[in-house]
Amino acid sequence: MSEWFESWFETDTWLRIHEAYWRDRAADEVAERLESVMALPTGSRILDVPCGIGRLSAALADRGHRVHGVDLSEMVLAAARSHAGDRTVTFERGDMREVEGSSEFDGAICWWGSFGYFGDEGDEAFVRAVRRALKPGAPFLIEGFVMESLLPGFQASGVGRFDDVMFVEERHLDLETSTIESTWTVLENGAVSGRTDVRVRLYPWLTLRALLNRAGFEHTTLLDAGTLEPFVASSRMGRTLTLAR
Ligand SMILES: C[S@@+](CC[C@H](N)C(=O)[O-])C[C@H]1O[C@@H](n2cnc3c(N)ncnc32)[C@H](O)[C@@H]1O
Repeated sequence: MSEWFESWFETDTWLRIHEAYWRDRAADEVAERLESVMALPTGSRILDVPCGIGRLSAALADRGHRVHGVDLSEMVLAAARSHAGDRTVTFERGDMREVEGSSEFDGAICWWGSFGYFGDEGDEAFVRAVRRALKPGAPFLIEGFVMESLLPGFQASGVGRFDDVMFVEERHLDLETSTIESTWTVLENGAVSGRTDVRVRLYPWLTLRALLNRAGFEHTTLLDAGTLEPFVASSRMGRTLTLAR
């Protein structure tokens, strides 16, 4: 049986959600912010993994960088290639855990809650592969949540909407594995059109930091993704940026 991330990201429903997500956001502003957090000089070679439909890859290329995007889904890569046109971006189908390359990138990004899909071994394999692909001292930026930033707002269920796609998400935190197990029930045109189980590891900060250290990243910082200041625990749920070098 295939893993959830091998099938869900190949569905038309996902493509519609993915495109709606980036339509609502200014990719160029996100690119500018991450460029400043990572202190990337113009002309940097950047690894975007997983790149999805490549909106950030394209925005980084527009800011003068050379970007290489890797993703497992043929469907999102086709959308990424078509959007990128003749920008300085290359795309490759590949598994994040087996990213290739050795000391060739000036920076790497893992954007929009794309970390924690593979369990302890797989997540560490991904981080090790990114570390190998980066030049010594180069930054790796992971966007998403850590346990401390998500739990204040954890809810066992919720309803979301992207364009005409609505979904009901039922969530459970498995304490044995620190994994959020969700079931997404997707509704289109007023009827249930699909159901998907999603499992994402929710790392406590110290555990994530230890994983990054083991993989060769010596310096790690947890930032508030909104303010770009060091993360401070509070009673609010908030997205984070993990910066590792
Ligand atoms: C939430 S999306 C984020 C995409 C992109 N970072 C963005 O911000 O638009 C997660 C992506 O992970 C990709 N993915 C899932 N499992 C993967 C794997 N094993 N190797 C490479 N990509 C994978 C999916 O195809 C999907 O495009």
